[in-house]
Amino acid sequence: MTPANAPSPGAVHIRTRGWGWRHAGRRAFAARHLDLEIQPGERVLLLGASGAGKSTVLHGLAGLLGSQDEGEQEGELLLDGAHPAAARGRAGLVLQDPETQVVLARVGDEVAFAAENLAVPREEIWRRVGRALDDVGLGLPLDHPTTALSGGQKQRLALAAVLAMEPGLLLLDEPTANLDPDGVLEVRDAVVRVLERTGATLVVVEHRVAVWADVVDRVIVLDATGGVLADGPPATVLVQEGTRTRLAAAGVWVPGWQPAVGGTMPGSSGSGYGDGVLLSAHGLGVARTRRGPAAVEDLDLTVRAGEALGITGPNGAGKSTAALTLGGLLRPRAGRLDASPLLAGTAGSDPFRWRSAQLVRRIGTVFQEPEHQFLTATVADELAFGPRQAGTAEATRTASVAERLRLTHLLQANPFTLSGGEKRRLSVATMLATAPRVLVLDEPTFGQDAGTWAELVTLLRELVDDGVAVLSVTHDAEFIAALGGTTLHISGGAGRLVSR
Ligand SMILES: Nc1ncnc2c1ncn2[C@@H]1O[C@H](COP(=O)(O)OP(=O)(O)OP(=O)(O)O)[C@@H](O)[C@H]1O
Ligand SMILES: [Mg+2]
Repeated sequence: MTPANAPSPGAVHIRTRGWGWRHAGRRAFAARHLDLEIQPGERVLLLGASGAGKSTVLHGLAGLLGSQDEGEQEGELLLDGAHPAAARGRAGLVLQDPETQVVLARVGDEVAFAAENLAVPREEIWRRVGRALDDVGLGLPLDHPTTALSGGQKQRLALAAVLAMEPGLLLLDEPTANLDPDGVLEVRDAVVRVLERTGATLVVVEHRVAVWADVVDRVIVLDATGGVLADGPPATVLVQEGTRTRLAAAGVWVPGWQPAVGGTMPGSSGSGYGDGVLLSAHGLGVARTRRGPAAVEDLDLTVRAGEALGITGPNGAGKSTAALTLGGLLRPRAGRLDASPLLAGTAGSDPFRWRSAQLVRRIGTVFQEPEHQFLTATVADELAFGPRQAGTAEATRTASVAERLRLTHLLQANPFTLSGGEKRRLSVATMLATAPRVLVLDEPTFGQDAGTWAELVTLLRELVDDGVAVLSVTHDAEFIAALGGTTLHISGGAGRLVSR
């Protein structure tokens, strides 16, 4: 953006000519007809609707696409005039799903690993490790176990590992999607600091553009059907009325604009079920493991039919652990979680003891990591799994949920091959398919474009209006505002209820 970001000799030049990639097993090209030139040291924000091919482009640039059994390539894509595979080590990619990227047992080793592979001298490596961990705000001992990290902490770790490589091309796929608001700025600033030091080229993908708009030189918007919808400086692409309207129509978030949401604001009309209590927590303590320390203690909480509860708090505060406990999936560490007769029906009052067939019709939990939830080989089977288990054949409901969450064209696809946003929508859709009375959603809106976000919010508003209780762990302030209700703010081991 500033003339100060003059390219260093190490910064990578990118050129694509008619480039496209079709993933094996898919009829449509994920990205196509791309003619782009990105200069060394340029900072690019890559936008596009969910499924438009953003991650595919990053994977192409990182040299991860190529072999014929993975798919079919068209045209060419060159880094410094060479095939990306020949430029290995020049590009550092932080994957959309940090879970798949973190491989080693200890935080320090994870960050040192890639730099070691690049044959960086030993003392230099550990200097970089310390600096990268500091940069991303992960003040943990080097021997801290990586399995004990929260989703947002893993995202920071994956970024630290790539920063320590000091690559000539930094490729970031939604690097702030799981972070708390402070974390978002911290991570963005860390990236900018590293770019200032190294002069590297940046291509960053993020749905929420406001975070990056001020620190990039250029915005490229992918068209879902191939090619480029817009390309230019942020001040043009994101500000000019003509392009703003086109982007919004394509489902891209543009700063200062909110997609229209349907349904009524929950709470504005009484639900058909009344507002009876469904779940109540008394002195509830939650922990990941039976012997481990409690992540949150002494929660007192009542969940009523037709209530929206937002669960907020910094990364690592224990939100997901609380969600899994409220979802009946983790045994309370202390205190009690009781299901009322209204929710429990013929099952007992302790959700943790319900059989899965009993649970799915009563409480549906969507995990932070969609993949932890996938059990079958196609989207269609995944959607049918819950209703089958619950003994309810609700094909119409399932089809309508799939349609509304824009999954119908993917019914035969393997869930693990979906784009990030598609995976999220599928994991929400599978829980909606069994029509539970309580929904516990861990980051329901991450990875969504403006169009799919609005559809999801509308759907959830309708459910709340129908008497479903929706508990959502989220960093998405717009989502909380759109659903209304109460917020449970978790930090420092305690939860505090905030009414709005
Ligand atoms: N490994 C794969 N195998 C088959 N199809 C894939 C694979 N990865 C992605 N796709 C498909 O390619 C298309 C583009 O996916 P991609 O992940 O590039 O989208 P995206 O723009 O990053 O979306 P999102 O914003 O949801 O992350 C989608 O239809 C997706 O389902
Ligand atoms: Mg993606």
